[in-house]
Amino acid sequence: MMYPRLKLARNLLTDDGVIFISIDDNEVENLRKLCDEIFGEDNYIDVFIWINKPEGRQISKNGAVGTHEYIMSYAKNSININEFKLSLKFLNELMPNTYNKFSHDILTDEYGDYIITHELYNGNSVFNEITRPNLVFDIYYNPETTDVICENVSESHLHDGYVKIPPKNNNVRNTKYKAWRWGRDKVVNEKHNLEFQQRNDSYVVYTKRRDFDITNVKDIITNINTNAGTQDINNLSLNGLFDFPKPVNLIKFLSSLIIKNNDIILDFFAGSSTIYEAIFNLNLKNNLSTHVIGVQIPEEVEEDSKAFKSGFETIADIGKERIRRAGDKIKSESNNNDLDTGFKVFKLDSSNLDKWNPDYDDVQKTLLDSVNNVVSGRSELDLVYEIIIKYGIDLSLAIEEYNCGEWTVYSVGYGALLICLDNDITKEIADFIIKLKNKLDPITLRVVFKDNGFVSDSDKTNIKETLKINNINEFITI
Ligand SMILES: C[S@@+](CC[C@H](N)C(=O)[O-])C[C@H]1O[C@@H](n2cnc3c(N)ncnc32)[C@H](O)[C@@H]1O
Repeated sequence: MMYPRLKLARNLLTDDGVIFISIDDNEVENLRKLCDEIFGEDNYIDVFIWINKPEGRQISKNGAVGTHEYIMSYAKNSININEFKLSLKFLNELMPNTYNKFSHDILTDEYGDYIITHELYNGNSVFNEITRPNLVFDIYYNPETTDVICENVSESHLHDGYVKIPPKNNNVRNTKYKAWRWGRDKVVNEKHNLEFQQRNDSYVVYTKRRDFDITNVKDIITNINTNAGTQDINNLSLNGLFDFPKPVNLIKFLSSLIIKNNDIILDFFAGSSTIYEAIFNLNLKNNLSTHVIGVQIPEEVEEDSKAFKSGFETIADIGKERIRRAGDKIKSESNNNDLDTGFKVFKLDSSNLDKWNPDYDDVQKTLLDSVNNVVSGRSELDLVYEIIIKYGIDLSLAIEEYNCGEWTVYSVGYGALLICLDNDITKEIADFIIKLKNKLDPITLRVVFKDNGFVSDSDKTNIKETLKINNINEFITI
C-alpha cells in the first residue's frame, strides 16, 4: 500500500524538495527500507523523534509505555538541500529535548532571537590546513567594539584591543589545525551570526542559529504534543470532531525548515487540515505565498460520532470547515484581510469527455452518439477545470466569466486561456474574443471551443481564420 504512494510522492517532489512522513513504531522499519529503495540511501535525512504523549500512550502487549512517534525524512536529492542542513540537524537535536522541556537558551540581539548551537569548528576531522586551507585562519575579536579580523595563521599578529582565537589543534598526523566551518569572508561579514564567549583567558566561537520563524521554536518547547493538536482544534470550536490531529506547531516547524516563497506543500493525508492552519501562520508571519494541496479520501465519519451529530458526513467536511475557521481566525486576529486563505475543492473523477469506444456492430449509432461527447451530468465548470489540468495551468488561478450575448467565455489566468463551451456559436464570437484579448492583454493566448459547438463548419473555419489574422493561433476544439 505504501510503495506506490511513496513512488508517486518522489515523482512529485521538486529537485530541492523534502518529504516528511509521520509514522509510529509498528511500521517504522518497513518504511525506512521502502524509502531507501525509492529515494536512495544517500537522500536519507533522518528519523526525527517527537514526544507526542509525554504521559505515555497505551501499554504495549509486553508492558512498554509508548511516548513517542517518528517523522522520517528524505530529500529528492540531498545535494540540493545544503541550505537546510543546519536546520535539519538542529531539528534532530530539538525533538528529543521536547521531552525534558527544551533547555537551550534563546537569546535576543538587535537582529532578533537566536539560539546558540554549534562551535564554529568543523566537525569533519579530515578538514585541516592541507585539505581545506581556506578554512584555516586566526580570528581576532575585539570584545569592546565586537569587531572581527581574520588572518592567515602564518602571517597573523596581535592587534590592540583584540583577542586571538586560533583554529583548534588537530591531533591528526601531519596536520596542525582543525578547520573552521565558515570561510574568513563569512566570519567577517556575518559576525552578527556568531557568539563569542569568554572561557577563562580564551574565547569560544559559536554559530547563532536564527530560525526562519524563531517564535515557532519557543512554541515547540511547551506546545508540541498530541494534546496541543487537540487544543488547536478546540480553539476553533471544533471540539471532539477529530482524533489525534497533529499539533499546528509541529507542522509549522517542519514546514518552516524547508519552505521558500511560492512553494507548494502537498499533504497526502490531510485529515483535519492542520497543514493549512500551519501554512496560513507561516505565510502571514513571513510574508510568503506558499500554496497547499491536501488530499483526503472520502472517508465517512462514524454515525455515532460527535462529528456526524454535528452535521459532518466525511473527514473532508471537517477539514474544509477547519480551513474556513482557521482562515477567519488568523485574519481577524492579525487584522490582515489580504492574507489569502481561500481554497478550492476538487473531487477525483473520470474524464468529462466520453472516450471513443465504438460499438463495431453499430458504428453509425456510436458516431451519432459521439457528436455530443460530454458525459451527461457534468457542468461547464467541470469541463473548464479538465481543460485547465490538461494544459498544466495552475488550478488556483482565478476564473472569470464574460458574456457575449447568450454565450459565456471563461477566462483563466487573465486571458491566457479563453474557453467557450456553448452551442450554436457563430463568427460574432471571434470579434468578442479579439476585444477581450485587447482588454486583458495576455502574453500568450489559447482559445478552446466544443467541436460540435458551431452552427456550421464554415462558422468554425471563419472564426479560426479571423482569430489567426489577429495573432491568435492556438485554436483548439474538444
Ligand atoms: C493521521 S490522519 C492525518 C492527520 C492530519 N495530519 C491532521 O493533523 O489532522 C490520516 C488521514 O489520512 C486519511 N487517509 C487514509 N488513507 C488515505 C488515502 N489513501 N488517501 C488520502 N487520505 C487517506 C484518513 O482518512 C485520515 O483522515
